[in-house]
Amino acid sequence: MKGVVLAGGTGSRLFPLTKITNKHLLPIYDKPMIYYPIQTLVDAGIKEILVVTGGRNSGDFLRLLANGKEFGLKHLDYTYQEGEGGIADALALAEHFADGSSICVVLGDNIIEGTIREAVDDFKNQKSGAKILLKEVVDAERFGVAEMRDGRIVGIEEKPKKPKSNYAVTGIYMYDETVFEKVRVLVPSGRGELEITDVNNAYIREGSMTYAHLNGWWTDAGTFESLLRAANLVAGTRAQADAERVAAVVPGV
Ligand code: G1P
Repeated sequence: MKGVVLAGGTGSRLFPLTKITNKHLLPIYDKPMIYYPIQTLVDAGIKEILVVTGGRNSGDFLRLLANGKEFGLKHLDYTYQEGEGGIADALALAEHFADGSSICVVLGDNIIEGTIREAVDDFKNQKSGAKILLKEVVDAERFGVAEMRDGRIVGIEEKPKKPKSNYAVTGIYMYDETVFEKVRVLVPSGRGELEITDVNNAYIREGSMTYAHLNGWWTDAGTFESLLRAANLVAGTRAQADAERVAAVVPGV
């Protein structure tokens, strides 16, 4: 399976932080935001990765990430999203890279504590269709929200005023090669974008969507509140890991 990180967009919700740089280059504790989704894919055993960027600062991604050596990679692919067409529009640019194989897509501002390796391995066995990762949240109206019936997802609503469940659809998606056909027939939503939720609903209608629950914390980082929360969550996890390391070598601490 190949990996795709979507890191385009103008990041208007973070203005003026994003006036002179791309949202995904902003710091989350001690690393640029884009490091986290790349690491998520690498930790899941995915070695062929495409970074979709956009805007005026796209060249900075190449200078920052180069060939991905910091992640143990030999090579990274890059492509450029023109304009503000939304997540599914950015995804369409990955068709050539995917070249018929299945893909794991991670939104560039989605940061997780744990690993998606198990879900990725399960999807490899699934052979076709799609798989999404859900997380129970208290503010579901901020996200795509899964409507569940008898343990199955029957639909997803994008940022509903009255969410039908507390299960947010995280920005980590696994798709078979038919995803690009599904993107081609999308029509722009009310906000003028091609929505990833519409792609997911196409798989649900087809009966080929599965899901798993994401373990550990999950956050996006596209608003001032979530940007700060992401940094605090990463710092907290790092401090805990450091304390555990010390306790392991110095008994009694
Ligand atoms: C996007 C998706 C949404 C998903 C979220 C996860 O929203 O449209 O379905 O739940 O990412 O971060 P955005 O925050 O880009 O508007």
